[in-house]
Parts: sequence; structure tokens; C-alpha cells
Amino acid sequence: MNRLIVQPGAALRGEIDLPGDKSISHRAALLAALAHGESRVDNFLDSGVTRAMLNCLSALGVDWQIQGNRLTLRGAAWQTPAGALDCGNSATTLRLLAGALAAVGIAAVLDGSEGLRRRPMGRIVQPLRQIGVPIHDGDRAPLMISPRPAEKRLSGGRLRLDVASAQVKSCLLLAGLAAGSPLTVIEPHRSRDHTERMLAAMGVHLSSGQNQDGWQVTLLPPDGALHPLDLRIPGDFSAAAFWIVAALITPGSRLALRGVGLNPGRTGLLAALLQMGARIQVQPRGEQGGEPLGDLWVEHSPLRGIEIGGEQVTAMIDEFPVFGVAAAFARGVSVVRGAAELRYKETDRIAALCRLVTALGGQAEAQPDGFTLRGCGGLPGGAVFDPAGDHRMAMAAAVAGLAAGQPVTVEQAQIIGESYPGFVQALASLGGDCRQEADPAA
Ligand code: S3P
Repeated sequence: MNRLIVQPGAALRGEIDLPGDKSISHRAALLAALAHGESRVDNFLDSGVTRAMLNCLSALGVDWQIQGNRLTLRGAAWQTPAGALDCGNSATTLRLLAGALAAVGIAAVLDGSEGLRRRPMGRIVQPLRQIGVPIHDGDRAPLMISPRPAEKRLSGGRLRLDVASAQVKSCLLLAGLAAGSPLTVIEPHRSRDHTERMLAAMGVHLSSGQNQDGWQVTLLPPDGALHPLDLRIPGDFSAAAFWIVAALITPGSRLALRGVGLNPGRTGLLAALLQMGARIQVQPRGEQGGEPLGDLWVEHSPLRGIEIGGEQVTAMIDEFPVFGVAAAFARGVSVVRGAAELRYKETDRIAALCRLVTALGGQAEAQPDGFTLRGCGGLPGGAVFDPAGDHRMAMAAAVAGLAAGQPVTVEQAQIIGESYPGFVQALASLGGDCRQEADPAA
């Protein structure tokens, strides 16, 4: 067990290379495993959650190697796994793998950590059952999938989601690869479209668009195998988000972030911060691996409060922990509505964020579907913070510590390695005053 102690006061300066995007890394490994031939994926994120995906693929008989940050993976006929597939803390692994297993048609049990077992799975189980996937009814892992005879296709049709979710949409589109007719998924708002972009690059026909019901994506089940991948993954916007907010709230800071993925389904935080008065320059640099990317320059800026709701929530769904820190350092009231999904992430992020801000001497109030923060231009206190098994809450607390009135100690900080193993090194290399020590309670 590790504690990360961050002292306030030091400005952050310099340039940073970001880890590969987590969502795209998951998809690259999984889709390459379904393809025919060898895939090469550069700037692959090697972290706790992507190892969970890769270890599940090993259990399914798929060979892969990581050298440096290159993943090489050869698609293979998947074998029935000997035991339950352990998805660790990774909901993306469990939900996307469920869709892929439904398409392949072999028996499997999907399970994970205690934290993952608490997260809702009915949102994939119900629609999968609707298109004929033999998956046992239930709302929590472990999920049990029975084998499906090769000649029995799944049904296509239209599936409507109550909540915009790229994990659910991707699960269903992957199952749709084995449907006998086109499959359409409709979500209330457009969620990140990495799966659609990657499937298209692998030879699958998809179409998408807005209609009166929301955003819909239609997949035409392919006749042949998926083409292998040869791509370089852009830097993770969700990792960049911590440095963006760190520079904005810490006096004297100026950072350059290069090669950041700028998929519009991910950059809602950028729009929000610009509206709050942030000094951020964005230089688009075209596309890489079918995804838009660019460079960012960020400097310390006074921020003002903002209201957020509707589709912007979906486009910044992973950024609320660090957005909350920015809003606590702003002047004025910030209100987030329509974000009940935050209660179903690695932890209840509405509760955890309000706990963090309050512990640091700020004013935060939770609502069932969001929160209100009354920003006074800073957070006067310090805290010992338990991130409750949530990597993004841990990093958000560390960022708050850079500019709070007193040091912040993040307990069980090793959880950061689930998505950003180089975070603490990067913080130190930019000039952040931080140290790690063994947790005395461990
Ligand atoms: C992800 C989608 C989001 C996000 C998660 C990764 C993905 O979840 O919170 O960290 O890779 O598809 P939902 O789609 O359930 O909102």
C-alpha cells in the first residue's frame, strides 16, 4: 500500500508525453484478437485495466507481446476458457468482452474484483438477451454466457439505451458482428465512438446519425474476418485532463501536452474549462489511427463557475473528479445536472468528489444526479484522502494538493496504476512537490 503526499506551492513547467488512450487500447487489444492476422499497436497503454483485458485474452487462447509500448497480437480462434475470466477492476474489459464473446459463441464466465461486482450489468445483459445471446439474467458479475451453435446467428434490429454509454453501445455492436441482419443501437446522446472508428478501419460497414430519438449507429454484420490493425494510439485525453487542471489552478504553471487525442466524444472538459475562462491553446494535428489529435498549451488562469448538463456530461463523463477540483478553485457557483451515471463508476464519484472538496475546506453539495460547488478561488485546507479504489479520484486529489492551502495525502495511491502507471513520475518531472511512502496502515 502506498501513500502519495503532495505539497502545495510548486509551479508545474514543461512538456509531457502522455500514455496511450485507455479506451482505444482496450479496443485495439480486443478487436485485434477477433481479427485474422497479426496486429501492431504502438503507444499501447500498459496499465492495470488493460492487463486485465490482455490476461482474459490469454485465457481465451490469444497470444500477445508487449515490447516497449508496442503491442503485437495475433488473432486466433478463441478457446473456451478453463475458468472464470477475471476482468479485475475493469468494466470496459467486462462489458466489451461480453459482446465479443456473444459474437464468438463460446461459453464463458465473466467476473472481477469486488468493486466490479458492485457495478450494474443489467444494461448489457438485457439487450444481449433481446438479440438472442444465451446469457444468464442478472444485474451483477459474475455473468454466465452459454455456448451458441455456430449456425445460429443473433438477431439484428433496434436496441434503445436509456443512458448514453460507449461501453454498452460497444458491447452490443461487437455482438452484432454475429447478427443475421443489421443491428442499430440508439442512445440519448452521442457517446465516444472509438469502437465504430476502429471497426470501420477493420473493414466493417457502419453508419450513424442524429434523429428525433437520439444518436443511432447501425452495423452491417460482415461476411468475412476483421482486418488486422496497424496503428499508433493517440495520447489519452483523460490523462491529459489532470495536467490541464493542475496547470490551471497552480500559480506560475505553464505546460505543453503533445499528441493528445481530441475525439469530440471525449473533450467536453476542454469546452467547459474554456467557458470558465481557462487559458488553453489547442493546435489540431490531423488524425492518427483514425482518431483526431493535437497539441495543447495550458497556463495558470483565474476560473469562474459554470453549469453543466445534457450531452456535455457524456463528453466529459470520466473528467468529473478533476473538473470538480477546477470548479472548487474557480470563483462562483458551479452546478452539474443529469450526471447520475457518476454514481456507478469505480466509486460513487458524486459522493467522493463532495467528500474531497469538503475535506479541503470547500463547499460542496451532492444531488441525486449531480452536485453544486461554491468556489471561492481556492481550497484553504489539506486532507488525508481515501480514493475508495478509484484511480481518477486519487489523481484528482493529488492535483488538488498542488494548489490547496495544506498538503494532501492520497491513501492507497497504487490504484493510480490502473489507468496511469507513470502519473507520479510525470508529476515529479514537471516540478510537482510529491513523495510516496508505505502506508502505515498496511
Ligand atoms: C469507456 C466508457 C465510459 C467511461 C469508461 C471507459 C469506454 O463508460 O466512463 O472509463 O472505454 O467505452 P460508459 O460508457 O459506461 O459511460
